Amino acid sequence: MVRALYPGSFDPVTNGHLDILQRASLLFDEVLVAVADNHSKQVLFSPEERVTLLQEATAFLPNVRVTSFQGLLVDFARNQGARAIIRGLRAVSDFEFEFQMALMNRSLEPKLETLFLMSSEEYTYLSSRMVKEVSRLGGEIGRFVPDCVNAALQARFAPGKDI
Ligand code: PNS
Repeated sequence: MVRALYPGSFDPVTNGHLDILQRASLLFDEVLVAVADNHSKQVLFSPEERVTLLQEATAFLPNVRVTSFQGLLVDFARNQGARAIIRGLRAVSDFEFEFQMALMNRSLEPKLETLFLMSSEEYTYLSSRMVKEVSRLGGEIGRFVPDCVNAALQARFAPGKDI
């Protein structure tokens, strides 16, 4: 049973994340989506909300589970018996940070491999940050995110709500 971790902020999950997740789910027996509960990053959705949205959005993938984690990713991966970390690459601009992170994680835990999967071209410009900004300013984001996320963003940015 080979398990991979797909870690990230997922604030919120987008169709680009789901594209990577679907690809990973074909390669591993189980993919555990690991939502970072990281207090140093300003987020729109709480870890619990992000996990719930991911669970709803990934219900169609039987070998995918979702949870949150605190602390170092490599410690969490070791506790979960994961063999690999999955990260998505959209464009060359992602590479430098991802490369640094992969090498740091490997120096902390040499047995854990980071695998990069390339998202579909249609998602190269998509990011959670962009989706939040477009939604906050009243733009239509239905084609970029799962329905549950679209509804959650509309509720969060409804007129009269103080963000
Ligand atoms: O979706 P993101 O924000 O690009 O994900 C980054 C994430 C959560 C994978 C990364 O920040 C992380 O692993 N955080 C956990 C703390 C940790 O292990 N930091 C050292 C990584 S080199």
